[in-house]
Formats: sequence, structure tokens, C-alpha cells
Amino acid sequence: MSPSGGWTSLPRILRKCAAALRSRRNPRHAWAHKPLVTPPVVARDPLEVRPPAVVLARIAHAERFCYPHSRRMSTGPIIELVDVHREYRMGAQTVAALRGVSFAVQPGELVAIVGKSGSGKSTLMSLLGCLDRPTRGLYRLDGRDVQGLSDDALSGVRNQHIGFVFQSFQLLHRVSARKNVELPLVYRGVSRSQRRALATAALERVGLSHRMDHRPSQMSGGERQRVAIARALVGAPSLLLADEPTGNLDSTTEREIMALVYELHAAGNTIVIVTHEPSLARQCPRAIRLADGRVVGDGPGREVGAASAAVEEVDG
Ligand SMILES: Nc1ncnc2c1ncn2[C@@H]1O[C@H](COP(=O)(O)OP(=O)(O)OP(=O)(O)O)[C@@H](O)[C@H]1O
Ligand SMILES: [Mg+2]
Repeated sequence: MSPSGGWTSLPRILRKCAAALRSRRNPRHAWAHKPLVTPPVVARDPLEVRPPAVVLARIAHAERFCYPHSRRMSTGPIIELVDVHREYRMGAQTVAALRGVSFAVQPGELVAIVGKSGSGKSTLMSLLGCLDRPTRGLYRLDGRDVQGLSDDALSGVRNQHIGFVFQSFQLLHRVSARKNVELPLVYRGVSRSQRRALATAALERVGLSHRMDHRPSQMSGGERQRVAIARALVGAPSLLLADEPTGNLDSTTEREIMALVYELHAAGNTIVIVTHEPSLARQCPRAIRLADGRVVGDGPGREVGAASAAVEEVDG
């Protein structure tokens, strides 16, 4: 209420505001530097304030790590093999490396493929990774029949949908970890700034934020394999294929790499690991055992792994 007892009139309020505005430049009136009216708290429209492209790319990438199947083409199995054969011609001789292999792998599964030397594991891995084609039988990757694809189309499928991890790491020795991880994105035509952001995020994901600028020769075996895993993950593939990923590592580092594999599996990635070690197969939720190019066991890793170990013991 005003001193006169009536309600403060509008002209009086406006005069006060004008005086306050005039006095804002006077440092004695420190209060006048405060906003006259507290701005209302309005939720920022995310479309209005758009983060830079690099930040957006990192967010999208982080989301793909959590939802790796967002890029998927189908809603069915990631891998579907029906009566797959692979024969190698050696002059007049034919070597049957795979003899009617059939199985399916659902999204988010972690599957070990186990078997003795010569049982057909690497041959199977080459087929799964679209590095090779079956002699006969059906292979569908994420709902797509891959037999009929041209070599160019196959390499496109590899680049877009499959991440590879090899026993021997297969890194470029003269360039940094980050450049190694960026490589698959170069083939995809991703811009330099986005490549850098995505490779950084992938290396952070595998716990190598402190080794980004090291070359492979300046890293331990376990770190090199982490770089290889980051490179496999950087394109957010539908399928991660690892051929004896711990074959060149000591037992402590093997445990570290397997811990990372479980973490990636828990995050929803679909992973197939080839190993000749039944102990490793035992640690996986599912294992498939090959013998002489055929599937002779498919079930929980602890059972298939135990069966594989028992056979190895008998065979000496
Ligand atoms: N390019 C090839 N030409 C002819 N025969 C081949 C070829 N590649 C593999 N083989 C044969 O196919 C069979 C399966 O080989 P593969 O490399 O798939 O076995 P593996 O289970 O990976 O063995 P390892 O554990 O020793 O790596 C073997 O008998 C092998 O000699
Ligand atoms: Mg092999």
C-alpha cells in the first residue's frame, strides 16, 4: 500500500522503474545492477540451442554403444547359417573344412566357437565376417542374404556391420592408437573432426583415454588388443567377431580383455569369439563346438566347454 493509504498506482511504478534504470550506471546503487525482474526459468528448447556437430556425433555414438542394434536392418537373428559347406580345392583334391553347419545367433548374444586345431573355426569366422563365401548353404547376416553380393557389396557390409578383432591385433604400427581407431571411419567418408571425436569416445570406452597418442609399439599387448577392440567398435557394428582375441596375451591380460568383452556384451553388443581354449568357452553364456567341420555341441558355455575339455583330455 502507498503512504497515502491507496494502492500504488501504475504511473508511480513506471516512474520508479525509470529512476532505477537511470541509476544503474551509478556504482553507488549496486542493487540497481541486479536485474529488475528475475528472468523466468524457461526450459531451453534443445532445437533452439544446437550443440556443435562434434558433440552431436559423440552423443549419437555413445547412444549406439548402449543401443547397438539401432542400425539393424531386421528384427530377426543377426546370424543365420543353414547347412553351410566350405570346400577348398587343392588340385584334384577337395578339403571339406565345413560340412553342413547350421545355427543362429540372436541380437545381444555372446557366443564362443570352440574346437580343436583344424576343426574349421577360422574358416567359419571368415564366412561370418564376409571375408569368404560358402561353397553351398545359406548365410544371412542381419536378415540379408550375403551369398549373392558382389565383392564391393561384401566389403561394404563388412565395413558397416562387422567389427573384427584378431589374435595378432592387426594394427598399423606407425600411427597413433587414435589414428588406428579412426581407420574404418576413413573408409566410410566420415569427416575428420567426427572421426576424431568417435575414435576418442571408443578409446575412452575401452579404458585407454591416457594412451590415445601412443603408437602400438609403445603399448602393452593388452593395450594393443584394447585398441583393436576400440577400432572394431568405432563404427557401432551389428556384430563383433573376435578370432582368438586373447591368444597372444598372458593370463592376467586375458582376464582383463575378457572382462571388457563381458562388459560390451552386457551393454547389448552381439559378440562371437573363436577360441581353442575350453576354459574360455566355459565363461561364455553359449558355446558352439566344432569337430571336423561339423557342429557337435551347442548350448550353455559351461557344458559345451566342459565337454570340449573332456574330449581334449581323452585325445591327449
Ligand atoms: N586355404 C585353404 N586351402 C586348403 N585347405 C584349407 C585352407 N584353409 C583351411 N584349410 C583346411 O581346412 C580345415 C579347417 O581349417 P581352419 O583354419 O578353419 O581350422 P581352425 O579350427 O581354425 O584351426 P586352428 O585352431 O589351428 O586355427 C583344415 O583341415 C585346414 O587344413
Ligand atoms: Mg584358426
